[in-house]
Amino acid sequence: MNSFNFYSPTEFVFGKDRENECGKYVKKYGGTKALILYGGGSAVRSGLVGRVKASLEEYSIEYTELGGVQPNPRDDLVYKGIDLCRAEGTDFILAVGGGSVIDTAKAIAIGVPYEGDFWDFYSGKHAEKALPVGTVLTIAAAGSEGSGDSVITKIDGMLKRGTGSDVLRPKFSVLDPALTQTLPAYQTAAGATDIMAHVFERYFTNTKEVEITDRLCEAVLMTMVKEVPRVIADPDNYDARANIMWAGMVAHNNIVGVGRDQDWNSHGIEHELSALYDCAHGAGLAVIMPAWMEFVYKHDVMRFAQAAVRIWGCKMNFADPEATAVEGIHRFRAFLHSIGMPINFEELGAKEEDIPALVDKFGLGDGRTGGFVHLSSDDVAEIYRIAVRAKL
Ligand code: NZQ
Ligand code: ZN
Repeated sequence: MNSFNFYSPTEFVFGKDRENECGKYVKKYGGTKALILYGGGSAVRSGLVGRVKASLEEYSIEYTELGGVQPNPRDDLVYKGIDLCRAEGTDFILAVGGGSVIDTAKAIAIGVPYEGDFWDFYSGKHAEKALPVGTVLTIAAAGSEGSGDSVITKIDGMLKRGTGSDVLRPKFSVLDPALTQTLPAYQTAAGATDIMAHVFERYFTNTKEVEITDRLCEAVLMTMVKEVPRVIADPDNYDARANIMWAGMVAHNNIVGVGRDQDWNSHGIEHELSALYDCAHGAGLAVIMPAWMEFVYKHDVMRFAQAAVRIWGCKMNFADPEATAVEGIHRFRAFLHSIGMPINFEELGAKEEDIPALVDKFGLGDGRTGGFVHLSSDDVAEIYRIAVRAKL
């Protein structure tokens, strides 16, 4: 196991109706004048934003609001939010929504105290200072409610890039599983796919002797395999939603990834798809992650066979472990298909002729990247091509 620091300072406020307490937590973490940030309208229509405002009023916290964050959030709203916060003297940002809203809140939070262009942080600069952020989560997916990461798309060139810093970890996150009951099935499934991908990015590692995190990863994945079909069949199933919501946090605050090298190439390769086609990040991952697995599994057949046996319940073929490894990948893809996710370029609305442009934007040049298998630009192109051909 590698040496590590684990820092996860966020206070999680979990359970039904807990959003009615968010004023208490904004106050606890020093907010006196908040910006309430939300997305395209689901949180307004459900009455959630109204309840959040009532809670802030109960604790005498002033607020302004900014809506309109779109999935695959863009830089224009970040600039707008920074200007608004400066004009209003905002000292706390409250994100009410999913990963896109939370990531925008984080971008505004580092942009307000910074004199330069906030995009500098998405081009390699490390953030040292930010306004405090709290979240009221409405979709189990990105894990941004517990992570120090934010992903934003720059409209000029449609560049989707991320930044990471501990100053971006939310002060608190309200997780009310009932809020996710209004999600369309497709968004539930896309979120679930993202959660599973966050675990797989960590599971496939070259680090030896990591039994504890292997087993934690497997627990999260097995939970998803059990609970996701239950919520697809019965969207109001609170307990299944609750398990998925906590799994989404556990999958990405890094407790399942500490002490081991991680990969993250599937995420990078997917980000080019959601930047170009504006597809849901999870749907893009459903197409890319099994394709990546097919490309790299020979690097460590026994690890893939372990995943097949422990997560997917495959029978170990001791005479031919490769067959077991491949069966596990097929079961993953079949699972994604069964919950309504696309499994190839055509189903996603992506085009084979765009592959050179996608690889170009991925921007590797002659370099290589990835923590499990180091990929070249040609390798990335081949993974996209596997994703074109993929079928059950
Ligand atoms: O905008 P509204 O109207 O709210 O609709 C949203 C949006 O259309 C809808 N939605 C959310 N909660 C709902 C709801 N609809 C009905 N009822 C509810 N309760 O769902 C749609 C998707 O929302 P979004 O916030 O985009 O989803 P998600 O949480 O999957 O976030 C995706 C973004 O997070 C990034 C992705 O790249 C993508 O841009 N990621 C962020 C990470 C991080 N910060 O740590 C890590 C991830 O790997 C990921 O890259
Ligand atoms: Zn993700």
